[in-house]
Amino acid sequence: MNFHVLTLFPDMIEAGLHTSVTGRALKNGYIHLSAVNIRDYTINKHKKVDDYPFGGGAGMVMTPQPIYDTYKHIIEKHDIKNPRVVYLTPKGKVHNQSIAQDFSKLDDVIFLCGHYEGIDQRIIDLIVTDEISIGDYVLTGGELPALILIDSISRLIPGVLGQNESFEEESFKDNLLEYPHYTRPREFMNLEVPSVLLSGNHKNIDKWRYEESIKITKERRPDLYKKACK
Ligand code: ADE
Repeated sequence: MNFHVLTLFPDMIEAGLHTSVTGRALKNGYIHLSAVNIRDYTINKHKKVDDYPFGGGAGMVMTPQPIYDTYKHIIEKHDIKNPRVVYLTPKGKVHNQSIAQDFSKLDDVIFLCGHYEGIDQRIIDLIVTDEISIGDYVLTGGELPALILIDSISRLIPGVLGQNESFEEESFKDNLLEYPHYTRPREFMNLEVPSVLLSGNHKNIDKWRYEESIKITKERRPDLYKKACK
């Protein structure tokens, strides 16, 4: 899987991904990253990439030319046919596990990170295929959302997670939140591990875990619980 990121802050993308699990996946070639600086493609002699909004109002808008030329460079260099271009924006569809799963099946994904008040609408009309938000709050730019998407997609790619980091049983599988986990010691600060987990009876353990998943989903996410019951 190749991740291409159009950004004014490529160092932020590189630093965020060259650590921990995604860092290992990059090193082992399960994922590839190219973070490209939009500013390198501006034809403005002062290297400007933004301008005042037509119609007035606060803030600056990212101009279309440098973004379009960065995009062209990426698709031509990597010969990407039918590119999926994700623009990170609070106006987008809210990210979730099923979106991550769909993206994890692609060969290439291009992320476009905005700044200031946003980007010229014509870029969205011309090249963007997906607008995605990471939640109902506003950030200073699209870099952190892009990192979140790339992390959530990468860990679903076969080989990225180690044997002990399985995603087979985790939150959002079948719209249920995950059951609680315990490890050694059996007792900590007078709190005991639930006895069923020490029983060795896997049928009972599975039943307990399923019931705990149901309980926590019902309590914390009635919206998900409704979907789980369908
Ligand atoms: N850019 C700024 N805020 C954002 C958000 N919540 N999601 C995605 N991109 C953003």
